Amino acid sequence: MTILVTGGAGFIGSNFIHFLLEKTENKVVNLDALTYAGNLNNLNSISSNNNYQFIEGSICNSDLVTQILNNHMIRSVVNFAAESHVDRSIHGPSEFVNTNIVGTFNLLESCLKYSRDSNTKNFRFLHVSTDEVYGTLKNDDLPFTEDHPFKPNSPYAASKASSDHLVRAYNKTYDLPTLITNCSNNYGPYQFPEKLIPLIILNALNHRPLPIYGDGKQIRDWLYVEDHCKAIYRVLSNGCLGETYNIGGLNEKTNIEVVEIICSHLDEIRPWDKNYNSLINYVKDRPGHDRRYSINAKKITKELNWMPEETFVTGIKKTINWYLDNMEWIEGVTSGSYKNWIKTQYDN
Ligand code: NAD
Ligand code: TYD
Repeated sequence: MTILVTGGAGFIGSNFIHFLLEKTENKVVNLDALTYAGNLNNLNSISSNNNYQFIEGSICNSDLVTQILNNHMIRSVVNFAAESHVDRSIHGPSEFVNTNIVGTFNLLESCLKYSRDSNTKNFRFLHVSTDEVYGTLKNDDLPFTEDHPFKPNSPYAASKASSDHLVRAYNKTYDLPTLITNCSNNYGPYQFPEKLIPLIILNALNHRPLPIYGDGKQIRDWLYVEDHCKAIYRVLSNGCLGETYNIGGLNEKTNIEVVEIICSHLDEIRPWDKNYNSLINYVKDRPGHDRRYSINAKKITKELNWMPEETFVTGIKKTINWYLDNMEWIEGVTSGSYKNWIKTQYDN
C-alpha cells in the first residue's frame, strides 16, 4: 500500500520513512513544506529508492493534498507535519495555529472526501500528537492515561490539542477512520538542535554553555525515536479506529539528569581539559513551563503488544554517537537561520 507521510523531512517523520522503507513493503509519498525544520539531508540515503517519492508542499494546500491522495491511491495518511517547538510557539504562535490547526483541518477535509469518493477500502488517517496536550503533572500525580483531560499550557500544546479534537470530531461525526497517538519527548538521529538533547550535545562539543531553564528539575518521559516509529506503525496496522493511544518511554528524567548523563558520556568518549558539566548554565525559565510529563502506556502494551526497546542509557549513547558521526549533517543545519534563533532565544 502507499502511505502518505506528511512532515516526513522533519525529525520523527524522516525516521519513520527510514523505518517503513527498511522494515516494510510499503510505498511512501512524503509531503513536506520544508520549513526551517524540514531537511532533505535526513533522507539522502533513500532519495532514489523506487518506493519513495518526495513532494514539496503544505498540508494547508487542499488541492495539492487531494491530487496526491488520488494520483497515488493513498491507503493511509500519517500526519507528522507541524510546528513543533514550544519556545518558538512562545515567540510566534501564528504559524502554529496555521499549520497545526488549519493544516490538520484541511487534511481531514481532503481525506474525508477522498475516502468517500474513491474505492479505497481500509483507508486510515493517523494523527501524530503529543503528551503536552494533557498539561502538567505534579511529581506525585499518576501518569497521563488516554482519558486525562486536555489542559494545554503553551501555544504549541494548545494548537496540537485543537488538532486532536478535530481528528476526533471527524471520526465521531463523519466516520472518518482515524487514529491518534499522543507521545512523550523523543530523541535520536536527525533531531534539529533547537530541542534539549541535540542542543546540549552540540553545545558541549563546541565547549559552549549548556542552558538549563529554571531549576532544571522539570521531568520528561524520554522515548528513543525508533521505538516511537515502531509504535506508530503498530497503531496504524492494528489500532482500533476512533481510538487514541498514549506512547511513552518509561524513562522519566529531570532535565538536569539528562544533561549530566550526556556530559558524563562525553567525558568518557571525548575527554578535554574540563568536565563537560562545568559548562552547565542555569538561565531564565520558559514562561508557562510544564513541570512534569509522564505517560501511562498500558493501553498500547496490552492491545498492541508494544513496549519501548531502548533504555535511556542505550538510546542516549546511540544518539550521541550518531551526532559525532554526522558532523556534515550538523553543519548543514546550524547555519544562518539557526544562528538567528539561538541569538533570539538565548542572548538575554
Ligand atoms: P519537526 O519540527 O522536526 O518536523 C516537522 C516537519 O513538518 C518539518 O519537516 C516541516 O518542514 C514540516 N512542516 C511544517 N509545516 C508544514 C506544512 N504546513 N505542511 C507540510 N509540512 C510541514 O517535528 P518532529 O519533532 O519530527 O515532530 C513531528 C510530529 O510529532 C509533530 O506533529 C509533533 O507535534 C509530534 N510529536 C513530537 C515529539 C517530539 O519529541 N519531537 C513528541 C511527541 C509528538
Ligand atoms: P524541549 O526539547 O524543547 O521539549 P519540550 O519543551 O517539548 O518538552 O525541552 C525539553 C525540556 O528541556 C523542557 O523542560 C525545557 C528544557 N530545556 C532547557 O532547560 N534548556 C533548553 O535550552 C531547551 C531547548 C529546553
